[in-house]
Amino acid sequence: MSLIINRAAVAPLHHHFSLSAEDAVSLPDVNSIVTSMRPQEPMHCVRPATISAASQAFVQAFSGDVLYAVKCNPEPAVLRAVWAGGVRHFDCASIAEVTLVRRLFPGAEIHFMHPVKSRAAIREAWVMNGVRDFVFDTPCELDKIMAEIHGPEFTALDSKPGLFVRLALPHSGAAIDLSTKFGADVDLAIELLHTARGHAGKLGLAFHVGSQCMDPLAWREAIELAGVVIAKAGVDVDVIDVGGGFPVAYPEIDPPPLGAFLAEIDAAFDRLNLPNTRLWAEPGRALVAGGGSVVVQVQLRKANMLYVNDGVFGSLSDAGALGFRFPVRMIRASAVNEGAPMAAFGFFGPTCDSSDVMHGPFTLPDDVAEGDWIEIGQLGAYGSCLRTSFNGFDRAALVEVSDRPMLETAGYEAEQGGKPVVSAFATAA
Ligand SMILES: Cc1ncc(COP(=O)(O)O)c(C=O)c1O
Repeated sequence: MSLIINRAAVAPLHHHFSLSAEDAVSLPDVNSIVTSMRPQEPMHCVRPATISAASQAFVQAFSGDVLYAVKCNPEPAVLRAVWAGGVRHFDCASIAEVTLVRRLFPGAEIHFMHPVKSRAAIREAWVMNGVRDFVFDTPCELDKIMAEIHGPEFTALDSKPGLFVRLALPHSGAAIDLSTKFGADVDLAIELLHTARGHAGKLGLAFHVGSQCMDPLAWREAIELAGVVIAKAGVDVDVIDVGGGFPVAYPEIDPPPLGAFLAEIDAAFDRLNLPNTRLWAEPGRALVAGGGSVVVQVQLRKANMLYVNDGVFGSLSDAGALGFRFPVRMIRASAVNEGAPMAAFGFFGPTCDSSDVMHGPFTLPDDVAEGDWIEIGQLGAYGSCLRTSFNGFDRAALVEVSDRPMLETAGYEAEQGGKPVVSAFATAA
């Protein structure tokens, strides 16, 4: 199979893909692809080995079941790498994610963890895709789930669902708060657990401390709150799902190692003394961030602003309003000037919208010029899946590569200590 897929990257769940496993042998590296292809459109680079290693590290270190949060990057090459790392459970938020995972992995355990679902999606997940676990944070959603899986036309399917109450948490200081839109407060969560127990084959309490949460104590506090809710509800809970949110390194952001988070989770969970309760986690970013990058091309330079061919309406959304600084390295089209000093740059994306700007700063050689390429790393999470077709900039390529991640994440690749791996090389013009 060709390693390069040129396609509009919009709605990546809808493109056709091969169900056969990718040959993991001798993938090319980014530099050689840029040299030979000279890409004129954004080129997404998936590093399967990095994703598999991070997934395997998480599965081995976590004392429960690990669900990959598919929303983070649903690219089949990414899903296959997560699977190769030993992940067998998938947290899906839409019926498109459910059907994608089911087509790729007939034996996967799929969990529908979006607290608000359409009736059609619940039905299709239950009947067609063997999904048994659903999350909710209101009595209405629970009623909806029960009605759709036990409607008169489905009386043959009488197994009881796994029902998960999503608990809202106080803001933890995570980069992205995930409790303002979803989650029941303590009183409602108690009531929901109580009501759901009678309907549930498996009863769970789930929460999310927020994405890119740097503080292990956030999980301790959340588990303690879960313990209060469970005690007050007075029912047996089969699963506590500690969500995602595990952070990765970005330039000048060095999170504690994964072990510090998992130790806090284990200790807090042990203190609850719930021997019949199992732990689940739903990491996204932690498994795949280091396994993706995008190669963009400089189309114009104005002082220290570079107009590049990807932006906040493409795969660089988090570099916009959220101000994420991703690691960068230049891949030259022009003659090499080995001695060029480094300088700080900002990027403008390709659309006509003034908000398509990424201030960084991004550190690159001072003589970066039109035609040069820039590889932007740590983009395996919430990167390519956020592309839109705004202004017609919807084309991108996808390649699988053998390169190491541009930033090694502390805890997964300890020997690199979270330091940037910077390399520059020259191509003939
Ligand atoms: C319910 C749920 N689980 C898991 C995740 C994955 O979070 P992260 O990528 O921060 O690990 C998200 C992210 O939005 C989420 O909403």
